Amino acid sequence: MTAITLTVNGQSVNAQVTPRTHLADFLREHLLLTGTHIGCEHGICGACTVEINGEIARSCITYAVACDGAEVRTIEGFDDDDLMARLRQAFSEAHALQCGYCTPGMMIAARDLIRRKGGLTGAQIRTEMSGNLCRCTGYVGIVRAIERVMLARPTLSLPTASPRKPQLGPAPGPQPSGSTAAETKAQSATVRLKDASAGAKTGTTPRLSAGSAKKRRRIKVETGSVEASGGATRLTQAFVLEHPRVEVWRLMADAEAVARCIPGMHLDGPLVDGRAAGRMEIALGPIKASFAGEGLVVSFPNEFRQVITGAGGDRKSGSSASGEVAYRLREEVGPAGEDLTRVEVELSYSLTGPLAQFSRSNLVRDLVSRVGENFAQNLDARLSMPDGAEIAPARLGAASLMWRVAVDRIRAGVSKILGRPPS
Ligand code: FES
Ligand code: FES
Repeated sequence: MTAITLTVNGQSVNAQVTPRTHLADFLREHLLLTGTHIGCEHGICGACTVEINGEIARSCITYAVACDGAEVRTIEGFDDDDLMARLRQAFSEAHALQCGYCTPGMMIAARDLIRRKGGLTGAQIRTEMSGNLCRCTGYVGIVRAIERVMLARPTLSLPTASPRKPQLGPAPGPQPSGSTAAETKAQSATVRLKDASAGAKTGTTPRLSAGSAKKRRRIKVETGSVEASGGATRLTQAFVLEHPRVEVWRLMADAEAVARCIPGMHLDGPLVDGRAAGRMEIALGPIKASFAGEGLVVSFPNEFRQVITGAGGDRKSGSSASGEVAYRLREEVGPAGEDLTRVEVELSYSLTGPLAQFSRSNLVRDLVSRVGENFAQNLDARLSMPDGAEIAPARLGAASLMWRVAVDRIRAGVSKILGRPPS
């Protein structure tokens, strides 16, 4: 059992829970807040939607232990909320419910939508609400109810977003020129540079402003489909760096330097005989894990190839992970005859324990794709730095990753509706 303290509907709660208890069960069975419904328990139907730290989330795929210190609001916590009162009235008038099973999650998601956006058409509301499923009314009444409140939106005093609690800090590496405003803000803290000469003289850490970081090109990462075989999940990634292969190999053969470019990766010390201990931290919304373990690095310089294998465990969730990352560098020539390097990465991993349910989801594919982009960007930054410069260790920026994942999902959805290939 693990002791947790969180705030639920404004009340402080202390409890002992098993690591695999999900938040929906915790709310329903420990706190008897049965307004949170459970439908699919796979994060699909949205019946279990609640607010965590001011953002809507699926409580069936959120561990209660991961909410230690969080503020949770369930449908019972919206009794005094004006916007929710308008929605209740509109749902009733527009016959937007029959059995009511989906209604709590539907209303929390609708309130969040209206708080964030106005002026949406019925079709846009359908797209925005597509993460909440209803088994009986059909969606006509639901969309009509939301449209009704959205029309009145200019006259409503809307709740302001709760101040977001950071999950993990922003990735400090230089950012792509296509950064969104959210990312730019999250990462505006600057990119720390350890300038060898200045650092040696003064012991201080000069900073590269986000403005100059923004000028860097964005590196496109191709991510292959997720395949499962023999208990492992495999996927491939590839990206092109505008640097000659020999230079890229010099950097990528240095496993410690590579580790510093991987978001969330920390080594405990230098490599000894190709082995090192360390940990990989991930955070996706309220799901946080820190896999501590050991890795082995094997290089094949003649083939410009390196293989890193490792295994570790996350004590908090009781999950274990093992995996292998293999990368190979291939020479390419750019349009102006410049030397480029194509980096081909093969990733395979297996997860056991409570976090295993995420191992093959598309969300993981999106997350890995974003981690790959940050990795490529950090490699490029490091290769572009003057001699002796060193970027600070990269970290996962959960907010920016979630934002990019959401944007990509929406983009893909819109492209599908319009019958266009995703850009
Ligand atoms: Fe959580 Fe279906 S019960 S999304
Ligand atoms: Fe029955 Fe939506 S009203 S599932």
